[in-house]
Formats: sequence, structure tokens, C-alpha cells
Amino acid sequence: MLRSPLPLGTLDLDPDAEAPLYRQLYDSLRSAILDGRLAAGARLPSSRLLASDLSVGRNTVLAAFEQLTAEGYLEAVVGAGTCVAKSLPDDLLEIAKDKVSARAKPVVAGTTISARGLALASVKRVAVPYERGHGRAFQHGLPAIDLFPMTLWSRLLARRARDHAGSLFGYETGAGFRPLQEAIAAHAGAARGVVCTPDQVIVTTGAQAALTLAAQMVTDPGDEVWIEDPGYLGARGAFLGAGAKLVPVPVDAEGIDVDEGRKRAAKPKLIYVTPSHQYPLGVTLSLQRRLALLDFARSANSWILEDDYDSEYRYTGRPLASLQGLDRSGHVLYMGTFAKTLFPALRIGYLIVPDGLIEAFRTAIRLTGHIPPASMQAALADFMTEGHYGTHVRRMRGVYATRRDTLIAAIETELGEWLEASPGDGGMQMAAYLHPDADDKHAVSIAARADIHLSALSTYSLAPKPPKGLYLGFSAIPEAQIKRAAKRLADAFQSAKLPSRR
Ligand SMILES: Cc1ncc(COP(=O)(O)O)c(C=O)c1O
Repeated sequence: MLRSPLPLGTLDLDPDAEAPLYRQLYDSLRSAILDGRLAAGARLPSSRLLASDLSVGRNTVLAAFEQLTAEGYLEAVVGAGTCVAKSLPDDLLEIAKDKVSARAKPVVAGTTISARGLALASVKRVAVPYERGHGRAFQHGLPAIDLFPMTLWSRLLARRARDHAGSLFGYETGAGFRPLQEAIAAHAGAARGVVCTPDQVIVTTGAQAALTLAAQMVTDPGDEVWIEDPGYLGARGAFLGAGAKLVPVPVDAEGIDVDEGRKRAAKPKLIYVTPSHQYPLGVTLSLQRRLALLDFARSANSWILEDDYDSEYRYTGRPLASLQGLDRSGHVLYMGTFAKTLFPALRIGYLIVPDGLIEAFRTAIRLTGHIPPASMQAALADFMTEGHYGTHVRRMRGVYATRRDTLIAAIETELGEWLEASPGDGGMQMAAYLHPDADDKHAVSIAARADIHLSALSTYSLAPKPPKGLYLGFSAIPEAQIKRAAKRLADAFQSAKLPSRR
């Protein structure tokens, strides 16, 4: 057993264990950070000193430091060396302290929670409750549930729920209720240029399940995965849960920076992107970048996971064909969800996988239990084939376009002193930038005291200098409420003396 006499307590590394030494060191340091033995900002010994204390190669220490830095637990501070990050990723994947200590304290004598379980238990995501039938200003990611045609939906669902002569009460559904697979393939083909057969459609319990399934099926623990930075936390959670090594790749006005990604990891196993409407910055991946990304994936033999979560809502500019539709080499897994077009609690999403993956995914999804109820799938198939889906999405596009214009105007007139809107071409929410020196998390707490829900852009980033801004939803919030909340927010920022952008 190798031991380090660090002030943070002993770090035990076992040269005979199956896990490589760098991974053991990574686990020990991460636990020390999570359970508070290493406080935010604490300075670590140099890699040379730690390597010598532990009698391991310096590369072992550097590899552990590098992974912890990529995941946001450590940061390089000029003049101070390597330190525990001041703002830990656990702020964003909020670590529940009691769950974290479960690893150290056996739940039942002799038992512990796994490292994967620990990573998953650390991803705490708070659902903001609806308010009198609509969303709270400015909660993001929610459709206008109050405008969903509930009576029609109940009728379709009741009809299918009675249909016990059909195949809706057994185990047959598997990778998807066939008419729904057909409806999804037709929709993705017509609306997004996705080229597929219904067999390629794997119906999941929402996009989150699609992320988890894809992460488990194409990556092994330790594999490098490119994630957009800033990027979607649910994806980060799914890849962490699969044991992947996260490689944050910056996003600019054209989307993910492929050249920078190549420098950071030349052979990623998987590349996760939101090309239609980048989450959270709202930019569209340019055609040039799309082609560069496809070219890179082909030459590096990487999978691309294309998350097209809200592409139905586009208000300006021309939509670009999906990466899947442009791909000629079978490297793209495409995913979508009905959470944004119908309602989140429906829990239906899908993956469209290349031919060569169909069998493996069809078999595996049965073992995950992520199969939505057959009667729900059947009602959704009816909703789509009878034309209600197209009608509802068109109607919502109009409603959301008006709410988006209202929010842009309210930011300009009420909040222009502090915020600059960056609405992008589509979606249900938008980024707005603060003064680069402003603390966006502080702005979020000021807003919370005024009963306004916001998210800080920096929480979606692992970069040392994340963008400083706010993420504001508009789709679920009626115009009058958007205007009122913007005024209230301006008052709150004014009294708290938030730094002006001007
Ligand atoms: C980018 C992105 N991907 C995936 C999801 C997950 O969607 P679902 O509710 O279908 O799991 C969301 C939901 O907010 C999202 O914003």
C-alpha cells in the first residue's frame, strides 16, 4: 500500500489493485474534495512532491490532476500551482453531502455505494414547480403545458388504454411501438432531413434515457467524450455515470470549435453536440463546422451524438439539415424528445441509430427498463398520424415567437443596463450576457430573492473563464408575466448594485 502523509489525510493507493494508479489517485482526491477534507481553493502539493510522497511516477499524478481539472474539481492558479476549484462542479451537479459520505460510511455493514452510483447521486437537478397553470418567470426548458390540447389527448389515450385485444398489454413493445417508430421516422425525415428506416428508431423514456443508453452502449469507462462547453448538464451526468472522461470543448458563434477539440483529444470515443440550437448559448452549428465535425468523426472513428431537443422551434434564419442527414459514413446517433413539443412528464424520446447498432440497442433497451408504456406510445402515434402533432407545434411556434419578442423587448427596455440578449434563431429560452466581471451566480440569488427563477451561464461550463450571463426561459410564461417579472428584476438588480454593462 502506498501512502501520502498529506494534511488532507492519507491517500491510499494499491499497486496490486485492478484499477490503474492514476484512477485510484483521481478517486481519492475527488472523495477528499467532495467530503470537504480538501476545501475549495486549497492548494495541492506539486505533482513532483506528491509523486515522490506516494512513490509513483509523476505521470500518474499528472494524469489524475488532468482528469480532475477537465471535470472542474481542480484548477491551475498562476503563482500557486494546482488548487481545488473555487467554484466546484458540484455547484452545478449539486453534490448532496449526505449521499457523498455514503461511500465512506457503509450503508449496511461491509457495503458501499459504487463510484458510478456516487457520480449519479451527485447530479441533483431541481424541478421548478408550475405556478397557477403556467411556468415561473424565467424558468427554462418548459413548454406551455396549459396550451396543450388535453381533452383531445385524453380521448386518444383512453381509446388506447381500452385496447386490450391489441399488443399494448404485453412485452412486445421492446424498442418501440411500431406505428410510433414509423411516425417518428417520417417526422424526422420531413422536418430534419434525417435519413432512416423505422427499424433504426429506438423509443426511450425521454431524451435523458437516450443519453444514458447511448453513453453506456458506445463508451467504456475512461473513454474520452467531447462535450460542448458550456453545455447541457444532463448529458454531462449521463457520461459521468458511464465513467467517461469528459473533454470540454469551447463553443463560439459557429458552435463547437472542432479544431480546439482536436487539440484537446484527438480520438474521442463520442462527441456530444446540440447543433440546431446550442444548449445554452443558442448558436446554430454552421454548415462549415458541420462538415468539419463529420469529417473529423470519420477520420478519428468517433461517434457523434446529435441532441436535437428543441429544433421544432425556429423563428429566424434557415434551418440547417441535421448532422445525421449530412453524414454518409454512419457515425451519427440522432436523438429527440417530445418533452418540449408536448409535455415533459410524457417521458417519451427517441434515438435514431445507424444500422450496425440496431440489434445491440434493441436488445439492451429491454435491460434498462427505459421503455415508455405501450398505451402512451400508441396514443402518441395516433396524435402524430392524425395530424395533431403538426398543428400543435405550428401553434406553439407562433405563441413562443411572440413570447420571445416580448422577452427581447423587456430585456432591452427594462434590463439593458445589465443584460444583453443573445436570442439565437430558435428555441424556448435564451442566453443574455452580463458584464464580464459580474458574478452571474450572485445575480441568480438576487433574482431568487425577488421570486424570479434564473440560471447562471457559468454553471454550465467547466472552463476556467466561463461566460457570465443568465439563461432565461420564455416559452411557458405569458407575455404580461414576462413584462412584470422584467420590471421586478430590474428593481432587484438596481438595489443590489449589480455591475452595469455600459
Ligand atoms: C439539451 C437537452 N437534452 C435533453 C433533454 C432531456 O429531455 P427529456 O425531458 O426528454 O429527458 C433536455 C431537457 O431539458 C435538454 O434541454
